Amino acid sequence: MIYNLKNWETKASARTKPHRILSPEEQEEGKVFFPLHLVPVAQHPMVMDLGDDAVKQILVSRLYNYLDFTRVLEIGVVNPVVTTIALRQIEVELPDIMYHDAVKIITDEGYHAYQSDDLISQIKSLTGVSYNSPKTPLLLHRLKEILKEADPEYHQLLQIFFVTISETLISSILSVVPKDKNVITTVRKVVGDHAADEGKHHAFFTDFLNYFWPRLSEKEQLVVGVFLPRLVYAFLEPDYVSIKSWLTSLPFNEKQIDEIVNESYPQEKVIPNIKQDSRPTLQLFKKCGMFENPQIADAFAAKGLLC
Ligand SMILES: [Fe+2]
Ligand SMILES: [Fe+2]
Repeated sequence: MIYNLKNWETKASARTKPHRILSPEEQEEGKVFFPLHLVPVAQHPMVMDLGDDAVKQILVSRLYNYLDFTRVLEIGVVNPVVTTIALRQIEVELPDIMYHDAVKIITDEGYHAYQSDDLISQIKSLTGVSYNSPKTPLLLHRLKEILKEADPEYHQLLQIFFVTISETLISSILSVVPKDKNVITTVRKVVGDHAADEGKHHAFFTDFLNYFWPRLSEKEQLVVGVFLPRLVYAFLEPDYVSIKSWLTSLPFNEKQIDEIVNESYPQEKVIPNIKQDSRPTLQLFKKCGMFENPQIADAFAAKGLLC
């Protein structure tokens, strides 16, 4: 077992990185709040026809949405699961070092939630673009819907796997934003600080999955395995509800909003993007031998995720 978070004291963002402060000049340098190519709806001709301010408003909204998603994911989903690991409340006994690493991860994720929360406030006061977070963020709603279909006996396992998915995939946001020089520097730095920590978490959860999966019973593997492709979608499918809400602040009626969203997110583009972002996780699943079970393989194939 590798000690993945060995240098945590000198590497973790929470321990080493400064408070990132957004300055008004950053906006004046012609930089954007979010990469345009990652926001299909902002590139729709009907939005672009409204001019730069409308596009900017959508990009700021996309950034708010990402930061809010991060805040909810970290303290609403990841930390409750990692806490059960740290407190030895999961059914499989792990090497001691993993319990210790779990405490470090809880600290990191708490910090990522704080960074996100803090940047939302800073952007609000700098841009004046308002943000009303939904009462139940779509991420939690999707997870709840999936859990409703499963026997409560398996809820803890499903939540563990949802977190394992979120911690092992490499989202295009974490990989692209820190390197994109068109993006406002403070935003790049905040996302970059997060991405650096997530590299370590990826290694931890890779080890965790390799250790955990073979120790589950065949029944547990099957019950959980067939839900996994849906958990991948829950995490990566665009948040259509939020996207529509950004468009309501522009001069569009309901029919036009539906048209813009349908044309911006066609299934033939959405599915390959989900497959692309989840590739590292799918490869891990494959290496664990998950797809050797035909029922699990079929469930992944049905969602276009078999590799
Ligand atoms: Fe994180
Ligand atoms: Fe993480």
